[in-house]
Amino acid sequence: MPTDSLFQPLAQAGASANATVAVTLNGQPLQVPVASSVAAALLAAGVKRFRNSPVSGDGRAPYCMMGVCFECLLEIDGVPNRQGCLVPLEAGMAIRTQDGMRDLLAEARNPALALAQAVEAPHGV
Ligand code: FES
Repeated sequence: MPTDSLFQPLAQAGASANATVAVTLNGQPLQVPVASSVAAALLAAGVKRFRNSPVSGDGRAPYCMMGVCFECLLEIDGVPNRQGCLVPLEAGMAIRTQDGMRDLLAEARNPALALAQAVEAPHGV
């Protein structure tokens, strides 16, 4: 099944159109366009696989870009299961793709992590 992204960047005007920030993705340096969220920046940089499906192992990528589908889960700065579409992009972020589903047991063992994720997902999922 083709996995080409349907997200296309809008044309931007001005000096900020080509502005980038440095992050790492799976330990490799990556320049990404300045964007409002981590997911938007990675998509604009051409990243097509954010995580793997726990059922089929197929690559998954952002779908809704508004915190509903959870297809954008990433490990960001050592914190797993963060919704890339809800996390503001910052220079120097260490981003890793994820395999499988959320580790709910890890979240239960770390209340601070669960709280941080609850703040990112205001609908309480
Ligand atoms: S893209 Fe759907 S929750 Fe992030």
